[in-house]
Amino acid sequence: MALNVVIMAAGKGTRMKSALPKVLHRLAGTSLLQHVLQASAALGAARTIVITGHGADAVEAAVAGSGARFVRQMPQRGTGHAVQQAVPALDDANGTTLILNGDVPLIRADTARALVQACSGEKLALLTIELADASGYGRIVRDGDAVQAIVEHKDASAAQRAIREVYTGIMAAPTASLKRWVMALTNENAQQEFYLTDIVAMAVADGAAVVAAAAGSETEVLGVNSPLQLADLERRFQRQQAEALMEAGVRLADPARIDVRGSLVCGSDVEIDVNCVFEGAVELGDGVRIGANCVVRDARIAAGAVIHPFSHIEGASVGAGSLVGPYARLRAGAVLGDQVHIGNFVEVKNSTLAHGAKANHLAYLGDATVGERVNFGAGSITANYDGANKHRTTIGNDVHVGSNCVLIAPITLGDGATIGGGSTLAKNAPAGQLTVARARQLSLTGWVRPKK
Ligand code: UD1
Ligand code: MG
Repeated sequence: MALNVVIMAAGKGTRMKSALPKVLHRLAGTSLLQHVLQASAALGAARTIVITGHGADAVEAAVAGSGARFVRQMPQRGTGHAVQQAVPALDDANGTTLILNGDVPLIRADTARALVQACSGEKLALLTIELADASGYGRIVRDGDAVQAIVEHKDASAAQRAIREVYTGIMAAPTASLKRWVMALTNENAQQEFYLTDIVAMAVADGAAVVAAAAGSETEVLGVNSPLQLADLERRFQRQQAEALMEAGVRLADPARIDVRGSLVCGSDVEIDVNCVFEGAVELGDGVRIGANCVVRDARIAAGAVIHPFSHIEGASVGAGSLVGPYARLRAGAVLGDQVHIGNFVEVKNSTLAHGAKANHLAYLGDATVGERVNFGAGSITANYDGANKHRTTIGNDVHVGSNCVLIAPITLGDGATIGGGSTLAKNAPAGQLTVARARQLSLTGWVRPKK
């Protein structure tokens, strides 16, 4: 029996007050719609159909690689009208169709799977939850235990508004019946919209079984309608991630002050101080310590390395036992070996630094290959760009570059070379020798300072 997943994403999201379509707003660095697609990908659906409308071009382009099909709903005349548009695209009349909302991002795959099982191609299964404040939601109206209907808030009587059990916007239905029910919907209601929720009363009238399954948590069924709700859900999601990290043994100085926008994989005895942001795929080895206010994106940091506060690391790898920061910047292609020291106001881009190399103060290493135990002095830089092309700097083992040097690439410094401070080198420096390239110092004996 084939499973179809329909994700409703055509609505305008007026309350976001944004030019960006609502489902493209990001939660933990990933669009709301992408979160829903990720949950749905785990279900092995035969077809995934995204209903687009408002901002359809942008929405479709944003998730083009997902394998989902798109069905457009123009204009948007309600959730029932949305599903009507998907009817021709639904596969296998004997199967089940799961309806998800593009603005309910944290739905768990397990919950969706359980709902599909509750439907099992025969029953209309509704995902519900009890809320302390149910206003705005469709209420689950029961007769005894049996579900009779969903009544939208705007159409509900005072007695119905007192019901706290609400429809989450997520349901699983037998595909053939769903097609029949949605095509029979009318828009005779307070909003003059075609309500998908009206199919519940139709199912009851048909004698079909209607079941309600309770969601595991409020967080997984909360929708995003406003910036406030988006921020609230972000905090809940970040809290969940922080708790999972701490359960795995990671020591967070404050679980309320970490943001993970992607995946963070940690070894044992990792410590993370406050206000750190992790983006993309980040791996931290055993015993790694991350100081306060660091931003780390797409990076691997090996065992025992210490990242001091206010460092920015992106597309880089840091070897075991290395020290980085405070105020260091590692950019794409920075590859630090073991025991490397990168100090304050040092920028490293597309460069490898071998075991024990140090650049401790105010330096730039771009497109450089740096040997073992090199000491790169304060204020020294590689001049890697000639205005048109980038060139490489190669620094051998045990080289000592003094302070305030400019190495004009392409250039090679041989093993054991020493470069005198203040040198601007445009030619290679031989191994083992002192190379100095600066004006000779002179003092004028008869010189008199001008008088006022
Ligand atoms: C809907 C439910 C309500 C439920 C609530 C849960 C209906 C009639 N009501 O109300 O019972 O408690 O969700 O959050 O279904 N959409 C379209 N096309 C449209 C209208 C909406 O694709 O023409 C999409 C929206 O983009 C959104 C989803 O459907 O992703 C839900 O629409 P929304 O307007 O938020 O419905 P609610 O009024 O919240
Ligand atoms: Mg809504």
